[in-house]
Amino acid sequence: MEHIGKVLQNLSPGQITPGPKIIEPEPVELSPEEKREELRKSLGVSSLENTFENFKPVPGTEKALAAFKAIASGQTDWKMLLVYGGVGNGKTHLCEATAIALYKRGLFCRVLTMDRIMWALKECIGSDSHISLEELQRNYCYAERLILDDVTGTEWEFEQLEKIIRARYREHLFTILTSNLDIKPDPKNPSRPFISERIVSRFRDPDIAMLILNQGADYRRLKGGS
Ligand SMILES: Nc1ncnc2c1ncn2[C@@H]1O[C@H](COP(=O)(O)OP(=O)(O)O)[C@@H](O)[C@H]1O
Ligand SMILES: [Mg+2]
Repeated sequence: MEHIGKVLQNLSPGQITPGPKIIEPEPVELSPEEKREELRKSLGVSSLENTFENFKPVPGTEKALAAFKAIASGQTDWKMLLVYGGVGNGKTHLCEATAIALYKRGLFCRVLTMDRIMWALKECIGSDSHISLEELQRNYCYAERLILDDVTGTEWEFEQLEKIIRARYREHLFTILTSNLDIKPDPKNPSRPFISERIVSRFRDPDIAMLILNQGADYRRLKGGS
């Protein structure tokens, strides 16, 4: 008769402790199109075609294009960029081009929008949230890179943004903000929101940041010829 130890040695783990058979899912091979779609979603971009190469030279957008390209190259001393200006002149396109260019350099940064991160912060206030407001704030404050498109919001939301920018400015962290809002009050329309000087002043420091007014016209209108 065989020794019990030897018998056990010759059995596979499944035979020693019989139980429900676990069926491992077959690894699914994604098609090249599916891989691109996965990448598009993980970068938070509307199209992987929104690259610097596909950005047409439109008058008024030169400075914004050059600044986005420079920060994406990783070769600038300054690491913070605020670009503001009218609707449709390529701010989102350039945020997306930056995320794509970083990805090509092996660096990951998702394009976030202000409403999305504010929604996430508000979700944390509920008592059943698995992450505290402070923890999520800290993530946005100290993430290695942050691209935040479409800055706008309520007073509370701007307070949150200010905390984030203060921390990122102190730490000299890669930060891009874009907005359709102006950086000063409109005397003709004082109730119109604007980005407060408390945020803007951090982008005026030439050693650390760049502040650019994108003066291009609405590209959708240009395409339509109007
Ligand atoms: N200079 C440009 N060259 C090519 N496409 C552009 C250019 N500017 C804007 N677009 C395209 O026009 C549309 C609107 O631009 P978008 O980046 O969303 O503007 P904004 O964020 O400033 O409102 C997008 O489809 C974008 O890809
Ligand atoms: Mg936009």
